[in-house]
Amino acid sequence: MTHDHLTLTWNFPTSVRFGPGRIAELAEACRELGMARPLLVTDRGLVQSDIVARAMAVNQAAGLPTGLFAEVQGNPVESNVHDGVEAFKAGGHDGVVAFGGGSALDTGKNIALMAGQSRPLFDFVDEGDNWKRVDEAGMAPVVAVPTTAGTGSEVGRSAVVTDETTKAKRIIFHAGMLPRIVIADPELTIGLPPHLTAAVGMDALSHSLEAFCCRVYHPMADGIALEGMRLVKEWLPRAVADGTDIEARAQMLAAASMGATAFQKGLGAMHAMSHPCSVHYDSHHGLANAVLMPYVLAYNRPVIEARMELLARYLGLGGGFDSVLAWVLALRREIAIPHGLAEIGVPADAAEFLAPLAEAEVLTASNPRPVAAADYRRLYEQALSGDLGP
Ligand SMILES: [Fe+2]
Repeated sequence: MTHDHLTLTWNFPTSVRFGPGRIAELAEACRELGMARPLLVTDRGLVQSDIVARAMAVNQAAGLPTGLFAEVQGNPVESNVHDGVEAFKAGGHDGVVAFGGGSALDTGKNIALMAGQSRPLFDFVDEGDNWKRVDEAGMAPVVAVPTTAGTGSEVGRSAVVTDETTKAKRIIFHAGMLPRIVIADPELTIGLPPHLTAAVGMDALSHSLEAFCCRVYHPMADGIALEGMRLVKEWLPRAVADGTDIEARAQMLAAASMGATAFQKGLGAMHAMSHPCSVHYDSHHGLANAVLMPYVLAYNRPVIEARMELLARYLGLGGGFDSVLAWVLALRREIAIPHGLAEIGVPADAAEFLAPLAEAEVLTASNPRPVAAADYRRLYEQALSGDLGP
């Protein structure tokens, strides 16, 4: 079966070379951005994989000398960025190929940002107009190559990194961090096992869902979020059931990019609650969001009923909030997402500790319903015990 209908190049929100096999264009994409000596940044798990070898081989065959930096951990920390910048400078590199899931993509983007800065990384945390401190001439170009369909970092203008001293996730932002070229090749995602396919796919859903619920006037983001959620509904179960289904993989790659495009509008309590779980208990980001999703939806219910009616209609669910919640719960069951936080390694008594950390997350401000530490504590208690309430 050919996939010609799934092969094309989009120029929104950046240049996206979409379609099976398009990793073959990696060297050409690097050269288009003026790279003569790119550094491929990936994570420790992926570096031994066929797909990294395939990408390196493309550049080698094209006579483009390419370095490899793979010291990126899950939930990456500042020292991963620092080490990458050292490797970038030591190898005389002039651009970054950010290759992998969210951790590798975000770290690659941070390394490219920091390639020629004199200020430290956390001077560029996304607060106020910190981004104006960036020396734009010191930023290296990025080709982003996602190998999971979830984070959508390939089309994002920010990157997440954990501050080891404060144990908090920080968001680094500059509009120029949006990768100039994305290669979205679904063949690179077929090796992702079902449980990770499910977790990252739910992250994509959480991006569209939180953005759609967020009370900011941004109809463009809302439109993208709706279609992003429809793609997840139709294709995520298929991608989980059969990882070699190229069409399902392609549709989920699109859904992931759409989620991240939509969340320029904002996120909310799902992400505010999942971040501390990742930092302190190493929870998988997408999995934690997937577990938290119904509890946060139920909390937000009083202010999102009208939105949920729109969503239910678009997804063909009939009804309103209740039918959306029922769909989320059924989808989680179908793709084997646990129902409670305790099942993913968060200690049963962690609610009191986690609540103020979630409250301190900047994303709390964009949750559609105001949420204070006491509310977070109740939400964590519910999510830990698996009690969704009445
Ligand atoms: Fe996320």
